[in-house]
Amino acid sequence: MHAPRRNSPRAGLWAMPTALALLLATGCGSGDGDPAPPSPSQSTGPSPTAPGERTMRQLAEERGKYMGVAVDADALGEESPYPRLAGEQFGMLTAENAMKWPQTERSPGSTSYEDADRVVDFAKRHRQRLRGHALTWNTHEPQWLSAQKFSDERIGELLREHVQDEAGRYKGAIYAWDVVNEPLTGKGTLKPGTLLDALGPDYIADSLRWAHQADPDARLYLNEFGAEGIGPKSDGLYRLAKSLKEKGVPLHGIGFESHFELGKVPKDMRQNMERFTALGLEVAVTELDVRMRTPATDDALERQAEDYASVIRTCLNVEKCVGVSFWNLHDGASHVPKKRPGWGAAHAYDAQYRPKPAREAVAEALTEEGG
Ligand code: XIL
Repeated sequence: MHAPRRNSPRAGLWAMPTALALLLATGCGSGDGDPAPPSPSQSTGPSPTAPGERTMRQLAEERGKYMGVAVDADALGEESPYPRLAGEQFGMLTAENAMKWPQTERSPGSTSYEDADRVVDFAKRHRQRLRGHALTWNTHEPQWLSAQKFSDERIGELLREHVQDEAGRYKGAIYAWDVVNEPLTGKGTLKPGTLLDALGPDYIADSLRWAHQADPDARLYLNEFGAEGIGPKSDGLYRLAKSLKEKGVPLHGIGFESHFELGKVPKDMRQNMERFTALGLEVAVTELDVRMRTPATDDALERQAEDYASVIRTCLNVEKCVGVSFWNLHDGASHVPKKRPGWGAAHAYDAQYRPKPAREAVAEALTEEGG
């Protein structure tokens, strides 16, 4: 059940334990190398963060977790609240599209990292960490990869060059890479696509090994949707992760995307995460959103807040859940209605950057006792 809403999620900075406040202020970060939040002057545009408000970033770091968000490279340069919110409220960024293979290699061998670089620079300026997303995506590879009728061997070379080049370019800047994105069908079997068809199941282990060679300190993930609760798809993910670990393939984490429909956060999400952490893996909520039929009603927004809070509590309750990232920042920049017309209002801020009940519920869940 959702705990009753308290009225204090906006308690001031002064309420922070002194030692932590000092660490953040001096930029020393935690033992994990966590960066300190930026001073407001490092961001441009008006700030939607209320004076003295404790940010989700601070609240999560006090609990040993991170809060993250997927960002659009262009929007980070806007004179709007977007960069301020992204820079102040989150300690982890994911490039929504800028690091994907179709964006970074528009024709074979010709790379373009300008957009990705802008996201990396923004994160550096705001002392944020980065999730790299995503090196391979069997169904969303560059269009030229299948159009040009390459031999299977050449497809393998192009994949290796891409993984090594991109992971190598950002060596040291990335906390974790989604090395393999969405590898599975709903039944938990490997999803057909250019890479699987050309290279067989080994494209997964090979991609992880190449990424590890290129950036040995990055945490390497499989990232999947619809595998948050226990069922055929997450069973398949579990078998895949277990077999990779048994073969000594460098796999460190599982990303649960968590694109939910209102009221459908699986009750067994914690139990599911824990079977993966029992394999020696960390887990993360990598792409949280909770969609509803639009226009949104007040009642639906309250229920959405409960869904958001329950995901935060799940991560707090799983020791090796490292953090939660939102996909996207606000309702006006949402991927949801583009994909599912008639659905939306899925995010923690509305299209005018106002915090929604979900934003308040996240802050409350992060401050609850006994998580
Ligand atoms: C989405 C982006 O948000 C859209 O802008 C883009 O058109 C398609 O991809 N799972 C993922 C993300 O791993 O990369 C997807 O992002 C959303 C689903």
